[in-house]
Amino acid sequence: MRAAMTLLLILTISGCTSPGEPGDQNPLAAMTVPRYTETGELLRPNGVETWVFVGASIGLGYREEEDGAQTESGPGLIHNVQMQPEAYAHYARTGEFPEKTMFALTLYRPKRNESIARQGFFSGDFVALEVALKDSERFNDGWAYFDLGKDRASAAAKPSESCHGCHAAHGGDDNVFVQFYPVLRGLSRVSPGSPPAVP
Ligand code: HEC
Repeated sequence: MRAAMTLLLILTISGCTSPGEPGDQNPLAAMTVPRYTETGELLRPNGVETWVFVGASIGLGYREEEDGAQTESGPGLIHNVQMQPEAYAHYARTGEFPEKTMFALTLYRPKRNESIARQGFFSGDFVALEVALKDSERFNDGWAYFDLGKDRASAAAKPSESCHGCHAAHGGDDNVFVQFYPVLRGLSRVSPGSPPAVP
């Protein structure tokens, strides 16, 4: 009995219950996971700039107070979206976002007419980092949303009605706006027939 318990413990620790192939190391083991403060705030994740880039948009407007895309003379803020490489690989393989998936939405102010640029816009000043995080053990909604601003070290989850409601109602796959991300939309098993992923 005791031997059986020990074996079970070893199997569990060695990752045999992982979603990977039997005998494989758990491919999610190396993933950057969310870290929280003692009061339950999300600590600003490190290294998001190295995560898989899934899409960008410019001046995409859905919240009037945020970037004033409608009123500025420019095109509105540039949005870049990235996710952990391991979460991306899991989604590509299974069509599901694993627990502890994080999306980093980084916002930049558009700039023009600098250096050799005569037309168009490039990413200028960094404005803010927002994070979407799947952690069903911790959050009743499954996903939680955080505004870490320009340099906030940590942030509390936003109330459901501020962020989650729109994501749940309009996100193309499991709260995530895959319909706006070329790298993900062709991989989604929820909305097949959407335009293909990147070649
Ligand atoms: C009215 C709808 C709406 C509300 C409310 C909303 N979002 Fe989003 N969110 C979007 C759309 C559309 C995108 C697509 C990407 C973009 O904006 O560039 C998005 C994308 C994101 C992403 C990238 C990952 C994903 O889920 O697609 C994060 C992170 C994010 N939002 C954070 C927040 C936070 C934090 C709040 C609350 C302060 C919030 N959102 C409220 C519509 C909404």
